Amino acid sequence: MTSSLARHGVAGHIVVTGGASGIGEATVLALIDEGAAVTILDASDEAVARAEKRLAGEDVLALVCDVTDDDEVAECLSQAVGAFGPITGLVNCAGIARDIPAEKTSAEIFRQILDVNLTGSFITCRATLDQMGDSLAIVNLASASGIRANAGRVAYGASKAGVILMSQVLANEWGASGVRVNVVAPGPVDSPLISDLHTVDDRKRWTGRIPLRRYGRPEEIADAILFLLSPQSSYINGQVLTVDGGFSASGIIAGP
Ligand SMILES: NC(=O)c1ccc[n+]([C@@H]2O[C@H](COP(=O)([O-])OP(=O)(O)OC[C@H]3O[C@@H](n4cnc5c(N)ncnc54)[C@H](O)[C@@H]3O)[C@@H](O)[C@H]2O)c1
Repeated sequence: MTSSLARHGVAGHIVVTGGASGIGEATVLALIDEGAAVTILDASDEAVARAEKRLAGEDVLALVCDVTDDDEVAECLSQAVGAFGPITGLVNCAGIARDIPAEKTSAEIFRQILDVNLTGSFITCRATLDQMGDSLAIVNLASASGIRANAGRVAYGASKAGVILMSQVLANEWGASGVRVNVVAPGPVDSPLISDLHTVDDRKRWTGRIPLRRYGRPEEIADAILFLLSPQSSYINGQVLTVDGGFSASGIIAGP
């Protein structure tokens, strides 16, 4: 299995939630290239079955698991540790998104998005702490929409802003136990989530506001995630690495 990624020196046993699609899948492929053992936790039976088939023969355990269910997460992590030993890294890619005006966002939709993106990430962080090795690097996925207020993202944006602060509190509380917690905040990335969400018009508007004038690729986000998992970032803790082609750094007047 090969990808175009540079080697980061990430070893050990890494758990990737949402690892059967998009950014999570690209992260899993990059981790395999590094020689790490990987456990995928993903709620989609179909995507997990596809991952199992594609990754047969690799040090990968793919489990159907809903990150909002703390008993299920604890059970899956015990199974993972039985297969590959204590966990040295966790990447929280499991997430859902809706593009819906605030006045049309029901409390149920709001709760569902927070439950998966924010509470689900907290559940896996806490459960992994119980199963960690001598040290643990956690990378949580936020979004440019958790930093800048994009219309249609009242629940999604709130969930991702929550992921940032949750990660910083965990970085503060758990640092002395050998745990680093950092965040990657992507701009729009060509993944199944975005192809379902963005219309042709959305794409035009986004690319007009992104200095690099294109969407990111899942592999480009995986590269940032691997850096934050690796020994190269051993003194980086509680930080947000924005990977958005310059979107969140730019003002309203676009360059050429
Ligand atoms: N693609 C983008 O443009 C973009 C931008 C910013 C942030 N992000 C974030 O990056 C992460 C990955 O996004 P992606 O684009 O790869 O999405 P994706 O839809 O391709 O993959 C997400 C995966 O999460 C899984 N999942 C959903 N709910 C789950 C649950 N309750 N338990 C376990 N697994 C669950 C899905 O089955 C899917 O395999 C998400 O958190 C997303 O919010 C994506």
